[in-house]
Amino acid sequence: MDSIEAHQESAPDYDQQALDWGWNPEVIFGLMYRHVHPGETLLDIGIGTGLTSEPFRKAGLKIYGIDGAKEMLDQCASKNITVDLKQHDLTDLPLPYDDGFFHHVTCGGVFHFFGDLQPLFGEVTRLLKKGGSFGFTFSGLEPTNDKDYDKVLDDASGVMIYKQSEKYMLRLLSDNGLVFRRKLIFLGSTNPETKAEHLATLFVTQKTA
Ligand SMILES: C[S@@+](CC[C@H](N)C(=O)[O-])C[C@H]1O[C@@H](n2cnc3c(N)ncnc32)[C@H](O)[C@@H]1O
Repeated sequence: MDSIEAHQESAPDYDQQALDWGWNPEVIFGLMYRHVHPGETLLDIGIGTGLTSEPFRKAGLKIYGIDGAKEMLDQCASKNITVDLKQHDLTDLPLPYDDGFFHHVTCGGVFHFFGDLQPLFGEVTRLLKKGGSFGFTFSGLEPTNDKDYDKVLDDASGVMIYKQSEKYMLRLLSDNGLVFRRKLIFLGSTNPETKAEHLATLFVTQKTA
C-alpha cells in the first residue's frame, strides 16, 4: 500500500487520530504568521483534511490544497476552508498551477513519504511569488547518519519513514533560491499506547529573488 492509498483508508478517522497522537500542525502557522496577510494565496501541499491550513484560513488567507487521496480531500472540502482543491500525485510534476501564483506554500507531515525532495523544492520555488514564504515539516535524520536522507524505523509509529538531514535541507534551500528564516524542533507525535515520541523539525523559508 502506498502513501496515498494508506490515507484513503484512514481519511474518516484522520482528525481524531491526529488528536490522539498529538499532531499539532498549527505550529506551522505560529512560525509563519509574521509573513502572511489577509487575502494572500497559500498552497497547502499534501493538504489532507486541512489541519495545517485551518489557522491560515482563520487569518484570512485564500487556501488552495493539493493531495493524492480523494477521501482526504472530501473531508477537507466538508470544512469549507479552501477556494480550490486538486487531487494530484506529488510525484507527478509539474504541479497544475501557474508560475508565481502563490504568496505562500506550506507542507505539513508529508516529507517523510519522500526521500529526495529536490524536484518538489524546485516546484515550490516556481510557484512562489518573490518574497513569499514556504513553511514545512520534516523528520530530522540522526546526526550519526551521514546520508542526505534515509529510510529508517520511526519509534513512535513502528513503520519505516524517510528522514532528511538538516544539512541536506539547507542545501536544497540554497539550490532553489530559498533563504532559511526560522526553525523549531517539536513533538510531532506520541504513540498513545507505548508513549514513544517522534520529533519533527519545522523550517520557515523565504524566496527572496
Ligand atoms: C500525514 S498526512 C498530512 C495531512 C496534513 N498536511 C496535515 O498536516 O494533517 C499526509 C498527506 O500526504 C498525502 N500524500 C502522501 N503521499 C502523497 C503523494 N505521493 N501525492 C499526493 N499526496 C500524498 C496523503 O494523502 C495525506 O493526505
